[in-house]
Amino acid sequence: MDVLPTGIEGLDRLLGGGIPKGHIVAVIGSYGTGKTTLGLHFIYEGLKNDETCIIISFDEDEKSILENASSFGMDMERYSDNLEITRLEAAEIKESLRKIKSDLPEVIKSLNASRILIDSISVFETLFSENERYRALAALRDILKSAGITAVITSEADKNNPTSSKYGLLEYICDGAICLKYIRESQLEEPKLGIEVVKMRRVKHSRKPKPYNITEKGIEVFEREEIF
Ligand SMILES: Nc1ncnc2c1ncn2[C@@H]1O[C@H](COP(=O)(O)OP(=O)(O)O)[C@@H](O)[C@H]1O
Ligand SMILES: [Mg+2]
Repeated sequence: MDVLPTGIEGLDRLLGGGIPKGHIVAVIGSYGTGKTTLGLHFIYEGLKNDETCIIISFDEDEKSILENASSFGMDMERYSDNLEITRLEAAEIKESLRKIKSDLPEVIKSLNASRILIDSISVFETLFSENERYRALAALRDILKSAGITAVITSEADKNNPTSSKYGLLEYICDGAICLKYIRESQLEEPKLGIEVVKMRRVKHSRKPKPYNITEKGIEVFEREEIF
């Protein structure tokens, strides 16, 4: 099976090499757990491998994304010819959906892009009514699937369930879900960070949360260790 490494070695080992080509993978976690950072690793790994990559951000503009990557030692500007960054404003979200539907297939095709990061889908989801939301996500999935691109889509977690996305819909349109969470042994201790592959079609994987850290080099996953 063809896989795309995420660039996070411990995570790639957990996944048996990386994300299967053409998969759409949700990265779910509460704020500050490293979702954007994981997405940046995935894009940077593609760039280093001469692939063309796309970032669609609902949070940050291009400058801030590049600075963020650079703070983890990822020099994305060096690969700017192979990187397309688009920021979609929350205020124009419905316009964004139209734009995604009309422009994205063409952009992916003309760039021959192999990887896309969408960060974060939660802002996008918030602006739809409950009835429209699933349809908007399904439309996005259809576009990504027919383009054959491999996608990482980040999402805030549900307040009461750290393995579920904010609206509980994203995981149904995705081939895989990776969850990033704070794990507390007791209220008095500093929380530990745990990464869990909740779902990954066509991959045999463990569901056990594994410890990870965020440092100036980005995310490091310790797949052979236990959290406690
Ligand atoms: N240069 C850095 N060195 C160490 N840790 C960092 C650095 N930059 C960010 N972090 C940590 O990463 C976290 C943010 O990660 P981010 O990927 O933006 O999270 P999310 O997208 O899930 O909100 C911060 O809370 C901080 O703890
Ligand atoms: Mg983020």
